[in-house]
Amino acid sequence: MPAPPLIQVHPLDPAAARAELLRGLRGEPPAIPPKYFYDALGARLFAAITELPEYTPTRTEAAIMAARLPEIARALDAQGCTLIDLGAGNCEKAARLFAALRPAQYVALDISVDYLAQSLDCLQRQYLELPMLGVGIDFTRALDLPPQVPAARRLFFYPGSSIGNFTPVAALAFLRALRAAAGDDGALLIGVDLVKDRAVLDAAYDDALGVTAAFNLNVLNHVNALVGADFDVRDWRHVAFYNEAQQRIEMHLEARRDVNVRLPGGALPFAAGRRIHTENSYKYTVPQFAQLMADAGFAVAQAFTDDRDTFALFAARAV
Ligand code: AVJ
Repeated sequence: MPAPPLIQVHPLDPAAARAELLRGLRGEPPAIPPKYFYDALGARLFAAITELPEYTPTRTEAAIMAARLPEIARALDAQGCTLIDLGAGNCEKAARLFAALRPAQYVALDISVDYLAQSLDCLQRQYLELPMLGVGIDFTRALDLPPQVPAARRLFFYPGSSIGNFTPVAALAFLRALRAAAGDDGALLIGVDLVKDRAVLDAAYDDALGVTAAFNLNVLNHVNALVGADFDVRDWRHVAFYNEAQQRIEMHLEARRDVNVRLPGGALPFAAGRRIHTENSYKYTVPQFAQLMADAGFAVAQAFTDDRDTFALFAARAV
């Protein structure tokens, strides 16, 4: 049984990552893009977050998918599609769609083609008849899919509310790029975390066990490895709160004391109380996100929510 082919579109570029991180750290306010959370330990800490009692989006999305699969398949009308998984990771979420959607091909996109290789190999053994392809690509930067990805009947699958990391303006631009890549016969299934009670949101990003704090702080270790800095996680405090005016969770790292960080190009001082902005996680109402999709050229066939309206899966087709 041959392993699925793998294509690396955007070569991983350590120099570009370094430049991006140094620009962010010296910015005003200092910032680290959230994609840097996911080194090997960060990916495991995020997996642990999804098991926390306070963090419900992942479980709720899985429950909606399990309960509504036939309706979702009907809404998407995507039999025989090329299922394109945005941020596939272990490919486990997309695999739950195979039986109902009956795709003609499965294309897994992820920044790390190395991680894809393992999970695709394993998945191919379970679905011998389904042609699979792994593509290493930073699709948030540019969605230039290689010619091996069929152009007809593309169904993009973007679960987990990762769209929440974009500002609404950037989310619209990304949805437009998806619409362009989908073509006129394409479709989109996307998961979105919804606006909910502030206390519930605050707890989801500042859990009692401190797993989210560890996840946030761990980015400093990753930055140390990538740029050769000397952040000490013990100098920093996890700060997370819901910003109601902006409809977003904000995560920051706050200096517990005056710290001086060694960086290429010169030390960077942080006064006690100064913050590094590490993540925004935007929340939407169903009408707000439906409007965003309409503005991007998608007609929402149906929004599938849980009974408490905490999370939504939007099934949409190109118009
Ligand atoms: C992976 C971006 C969807 O915003 O909820 C979880 C990341 N950060 N806890 C989110 C995250 C802190 C997560 N996303």
